[in-house]
Amino acid sequence: MTELVQGPTGSGVGVVRAFPMRRGGCPFDVPAEYGTLRSAEPVSRALLRDGSTVWLVARHADVQAGLVDERISCDGSTPGIPMPGGSGVDPVGRRSSFVRMDPPEHDVHRKLLAPDFTMRKARALRPWIQGVVDSALDDLAGSGQPADLVRLLAMPVPSTVVCHVLGVPHSDHEFFQSRAAVMLDRGSSRDDLRNAVVELRTYMIGLLQDKRANPGDDVLTKLAHAPADLGLTDDDLAGAAQSVLNASHEATVNMIALGTLALTENPHALAELKADRNLWPAAVDELLRYLGIGDLLSPRIAKEDLDIAGQRIAAGEGLYFLTGSANRDEEVYADPAAFDLHRPHRGHLAFGYGLHQCLGQNLARVELEVVFESLFRRFPDLRPAVPVDELSYKHDSALFGVHELPVVW
Ligand code: HEM
Repeated sequence: MTELVQGPTGSGVGVVRAFPMRRGGCPFDVPAEYGTLRSAEPVSRALLRDGSTVWLVARHADVQAGLVDERISCDGSTPGIPMPGGSGVDPVGRRSSFVRMDPPEHDVHRKLLAPDFTMRKARALRPWIQGVVDSALDDLAGSGQPADLVRLLAMPVPSTVVCHVLGVPHSDHEFFQSRAAVMLDRGSSRDDLRNAVVELRTYMIGLLQDKRANPGDDVLTKLAHAPADLGLTDDDLAGAAQSVLNASHEATVNMIALGTLALTENPHALAELKADRNLWPAAVDELLRYLGIGDLLSPRIAKEDLDIAGQRIAAGEGLYFLTGSANRDEEVYADPAAFDLHRPHRGHLAFGYGLHQCLGQNLARVELEVVFESLFRRFPDLRPAVPVDELSYKHDSALFGVHELPVVW
């Protein structure tokens, strides 16, 4: 049911929807109100929990156009930009991430990192990722039933992969992962968060210096050897590595866990996938479209007055581009609420669009393919140990997912 609330006093904003909206009974369906927004109010005002208002953009065409509109900024330090994970300034007061910067600053970081995230690089990593997944599946097999798939598979695989890609030595994985876990845990206190950021940044700076003496084939080595004329300090470079870590982890964890659950709930599709492994790439993209976990991933702010779908947005007003809604747009997808492996259109927006489109999407696709394919090959009868509606979901997080997924096989 739509939660309608009164806009802030004196703001001129009347009764609006509260955002984020809650998913209904089915955890795979984006909030039902998105359909109403697409048909009746493609650009609508909503009230955030902190009392500020934003514009929600719901249709596929408008989301795509808005995410490449140069009049719209991603700069996380701009007052008024909606920031689900806190401000674009980290707890120690630095600009936290190139993910929340505009050109030309953003492009300097992106160009430096892009060569390490090509499809060719991701494919070359596939055999190594297979080893990581197989070892996590050994742990799953060796644990009692029911076993928590989030703890034993969905969390360790992405963090091991990102450590490897960044070039964190194996012996430091535990330190690295424990600090990263504090940073990603919404329950962490401000002090814990601050300490974790400082420790991780100090550690990364040390590692950058080490990579200058002992180069490897990894992202930190690339950053350590960034051309001096770019003017990036070690603190900036460590921040870029930290941004990759932050951007990569939770989305992949949630896609693995929720994706596994969705597959078990779609037995016909799963049977087809078990019979023909060539269908896995299409399945991964369809899961990304269908699950729509990242509606809070694309916050923006208008730099000047502009119109979207006939609605005037004033300079300084915040926007959320609802990729989860766009991915269910009936103008683009036939029967959008169905999980359909044979859907012809693959242009979903789950990885965003435009300048900030997910840098790690090639890697994420390979990880998800290897995880799902290996999981259901090794445990063909894997299923949730409790009914889907009894699981605890991440309704309050920036990314939708499931907290724990007890499974039996
Ligand atoms: C299935 C998992 C993933 C999903 C759904 C996802 C989704 C997204 C989305 C929607 C954005 C755009 C944000 C915006 O519009 O402001 C983004 C950006 C980004 N993602 Fe991912 N991501 C995933 C996995 C990864 C992985 C594995 C990595 C790296 C190892 C990664 C690194 C990044 C980076 C660095 C950015 C910022 C790019 C930029 O601002 O230029 N992501 N991701």
